Amino acid sequence: MKVFIARNIPEKAIEHLKEKGLEVSINRTSKHLTREQLISQCRDKDFLILVGNAKLDSYFFEQCAHLKGIALTAVGFDHIDLDAATKAGIPVSNTAGSLRKTTADIAFLLMIAVSRKAFFQAKEVREKQKKSFDFMEDLGIEIENKTLGIYGLGDIGLEFAKMAKAAYGMKIIYHNRTINKEAENLVGAKYVSFDNLLTRSDVISAHVNLSPETKYKFNKDAFEKMKKSAIFINTARGKIHQEEDLIAALQQGEIWGAGLDVTDPEPISPENPLLEMPTVCILPHIGSATVEARTKMAVMAANNIICAKTGSKMPQVINK
Ligand code: DGY
Repeated sequence: MKVFIARNIPEKAIEHLKEKGLEVSINRTSKHLTREQLISQCRDKDFLILVGNAKLDSYFFEQCAHLKGIALTAVGFDHIDLDAATKAGIPVSNTAGSLRKTTADIAFLLMIAVSRKAFFQAKEVREKQKKSFDFMEDLGIEIENKTLGIYGLGDIGLEFAKMAKAAYGMKIIYHNRTINKEAENLVGAKYVSFDNLLTRSDVISAHVNLSPETKYKFNKDAFEKMKKSAIFINTARGKIHQEEDLIAALQQGEIWGAGLDVTDPEPISPENPLLEMPTVCILPHIGSATVEARTKMAVMAANNIICAKTGSKMPQVINK
């Protein structure tokens, strides 16, 4: 049986597929394939490992209905028409649980970097070469004992909450579709309404999937309700916040700062005013970009394909 891998992945996962008797072909270029190129590559294949956020829409599933399984090398699946996959009878898996720590690290890093204007300060040093100690200029704010509000308390949100509590004694509040008893026991997290999350948090961090319910959840109305000293963190998806509204909220002092690992679109335009703001840190979607996490994700994707090959259920299937 044959599998196509849409971009390069760690060799360990490729070897694993080969050992299990799969014939592997890979797009070894550094370029994402277009939908047409993907369809053409999948024509004589049984399985696909999708790398990156290429959209698999209903047309793709009509053309590739012969596939016996698709493994994503990501947790997020907002780029996949899951209903169309199900209709075509194709199981799709993700890498749930593979990037808990790495993404929580980035949320933590952004929180501290924003609170101390670290990226802006570093840029000043690099570009102006003259910046040195100043007693009153460009001061940051502290986060010790403040309140961290988590929007979407799954494994990543909980990991971030644990770090914030251990390092800074932060109080944790959260808003979720369901009550998270584990988090309540582990970090004393308290469930609150979304409005309460907005008004009470000093730092508010999004850890939800992108869905019609979460799209543009952080908009003008939400930013207006937040504290003027609040920091907004997004390591989930760029469309969770409304970018124009975020820019306006920062310009008008509705909130204090923002740390974004995700933007809309990606990459962010070099002209975007967010890039010039002292209390904003932008990263290029590196939440899972460590050797360890990417290896784990690729091996997990390979294991899902191997299971599908033997006719068993993919362990991380998302269209049940
Ligand atoms: C994910 O796993 O969803 C990350 O955002 C990488 O795409």
